[in-house]
Amino acid sequence: MKGREKVLALTAYDFPTAQLLSESGIPLILVGDSLGMVVLGYPDTTHVTMADMEHHVRAVARARPLSLLAADLPYGSYTTPKDAVANAQRLINAGAEAVKAEGGRSILPQLNALRDSGIPFIGHLGMLPQSVNIEGGYRIKGKTDSEHTALVDDCKAVCQAGACAIVLELVTASVAAELTSVSSVPTLGIGSGPGCDGQILVTTDLLGLSPGFIPKHVKFHGQLRDQAKEIIREWSLRICQPENQKPPS
Ligand code: KIV
Repeated sequence: MKGREKVLALTAYDFPTAQLLSESGIPLILVGDSLGMVVLGYPDTTHVTMADMEHHVRAVARARPLSLLAADLPYGSYTTPKDAVANAQRLINAGAEAVKAEGGRSILPQLNALRDSGIPFIGHLGMLPQSVNIEGGYRIKGKTDSEHTALVDDCKAVCQAGACAIVLELVTASVAAELTSVSSVPTLGIGSGPGCDGQILVTTDLLGLSPGFIPKHVKFHGQLRDQAKEIIREWSLRICQPENQKPPS
């Protein structure tokens, strides 16, 4: 799809959302480890386990989406090439068709091992949510010369290792556009400007269903959370009306 059409990707963690995205023609569904915050109530992604990921990948796969189904290798599951392959295989057995791993040259042996095992993988560069505690927060990447150079080198390395796409998270728009021209495979931006080959978002952010903090890059699209509250309120009022409380005669 690179150079021909925009690549669109959204997250799903459950059966109905996977059906919705597939029916909406979204070509790539990611069972992201954002699952940790969006569904499991953790403060960041580092708490998500392989068992959590397998459980949710199975639910999404049961929807048999037409979209390509990718899943995140969670924090700590790919510290060695052997672990990367074994845990990626578990996600594939659960129904994923590709996995995603965060990092560039620092995880090159793991990426090479995935390739050699025939497991398709998506790279992830820029802000790496699994490193949030080391980094001390979520910060835009590519602002300094050294970050810029490192990102270009990482991007080339991840492409060469055989990635099928690369997520660029919170990379400055100009560096993201440059990485897109350097990359032989589609770049999927999230908070990285319009110059990427495609865009990826957390579906609950897009729909306005996320309860807490909404990242700046999520433009206002809808507030399903408010609509849902209104439906619940109307239902509660109807049920509580005196005439609906009488026992059937
Ligand atoms: O975990 C996730 O949802 C991601 C994003 C890129 C959407 O990695």
